[in-house]
Amino acid sequence: MATVNLLGAMRMGASVLGASASIMSVLGILVATSMTVVATASAEDSATALAEQSRSIFGVLPADMATSDRPTTEARVKLGRQLFFDPRLSKNHDISCNSCHQLDNFGVDGQATSPGHRGQRGDRSSPSVYNAALHTAQFWDGRAADVEEQAKGPVLNPIEMAMPSQKAVLTVIQSIPGYRPLFANAFPGESQPITYDNMGIAIGAFERKLVTPGRFDRFMSGDLDALTTQQQEGLRTFIEVGCITCHYGPTVGGLTYQKLGLIKAYESEDPGRFKVTGNESDRSVWKVPSLRNIAKTGPYLHNGSVEQLDDMVAIMGRHQLGMELSPTQVKSIVTFLNALTGEADVAITQEPALLPSGPDTPAPDPS
Ligand code: HEC
Ligand code: HEC
Repeated sequence: MATVNLLGAMRMGASVLGASASIMSVLGILVATSMTVVATASAEDSATALAEQSRSIFGVLPADMATSDRPTTEARVKLGRQLFFDPRLSKNHDISCNSCHQLDNFGVDGQATSPGHRGQRGDRSSPSVYNAALHTAQFWDGRAADVEEQAKGPVLNPIEMAMPSQKAVLTVIQSIPGYRPLFANAFPGESQPITYDNMGIAIGAFERKLVTPGRFDRFMSGDLDALTTQQQEGLRTFIEVGCITCHYGPTVGGLTYQKLGLIKAYESEDPGRFKVTGNESDRSVWKVPSLRNIAKTGPYLHNGSVEQLDDMVAIMGRHQLGMELSPTQVKSIVTFLNALTGEADVAITQEPALLPSGPDTPAPDPS
């Protein structure tokens, strides 16, 4: 049947179109036909090949993001979780890390920018904390080396948690009796375990447990039914058009810095990594974001300016790859991106009961 159609098309091509155009179209049909035949004859082989190819591009998402320097001991994770959810680390006792990085909402708050102390907003969007410990550095512009260093920032940031000083933070922690044994267990052998650095290390240890494996990982490890045919098709498109030149590795991004508007300029007021390095060549350069859970973490870009995932994909095609993706390609890629939604371990991410304040715990300060 396919042969008859093909011959018919060849005849039509030869009679209706000019010679070179007909050769082009016949070649196109031949390629399309042979691809269809291969696909139906060995759908399983090609899924196997796709899974293998994907494993080599993306690698394996670890179950735990500890390193030898930064262990995720049970005691540190327990303390880190407590701190992550504790609003008393903010000036008015109303904002915790979880306010902007909601762990039951894929680690984001779903807003373009996030309200901090007294409702103030910065000009960047809250990225997810899930899987973030694997990134080459932290923040959109990579200005913190790791999650431990990063965690020390927001507490003192005047428009986020707005604590006046490290000392003020330690006064609060010391005033809450339940923290003393938690710090002592998390940092055994230290005579003064309650320090600002240790707060960052404990929160970091907790964040190193925040991984969200899902169907994509099951597919890569050989469970070929974990992705639907449409999702596999989208993955192929994602690979073929070149998204993987930037979005690769276990977090599907997060490993390199790239210019937004690499091929075609993209309007944005924020100079990006230029603010960190002062190098002209770093203008509009950003850490390539992870695409894990991307269907759940909009709005998109460093400033939260793009609402819809399909628009975002088309923008990437146009500005990062210099191509107009067809609506079918965009849809296909979005279908794959939806398969990057994973699951967190609720035993780790569940909000703990607040440790009771002590008699000396400072009062909230709304000023
Ligand atoms: C008021 C909202 C807000 C609060 C509170 C907040 N963050 Fe963030 N967080 C942000 C924003 C916005 C960014 C991105 C800023 C940038 O890149 O310049 C960010 C970035 C991060 C990142 C970097 C992720 C990545 O992919 O680069 C991590 C990790 C993180 N925050 C963890 C925390 C922790 C831990 C706390 C509590 C100590 C916290 N945040 C408190 C808004 C907040
Ligand atoms: C040349 C590198 C590069 C290529 C190629 C590329 N991206 Fe990106 N991508 C980036 C950078 C850099 C950002 C972040 C820009 C910003 O926030 O201003 C980004 C952001 C995104 C975002 C938004 C992430 C978020 O959390 O807001 C999505 C979705 C995305 N890319 C998907 C894709 C898809 C799909 C393709 C292929 C069609 C692709 N990208 C190709 C570098 C690239």
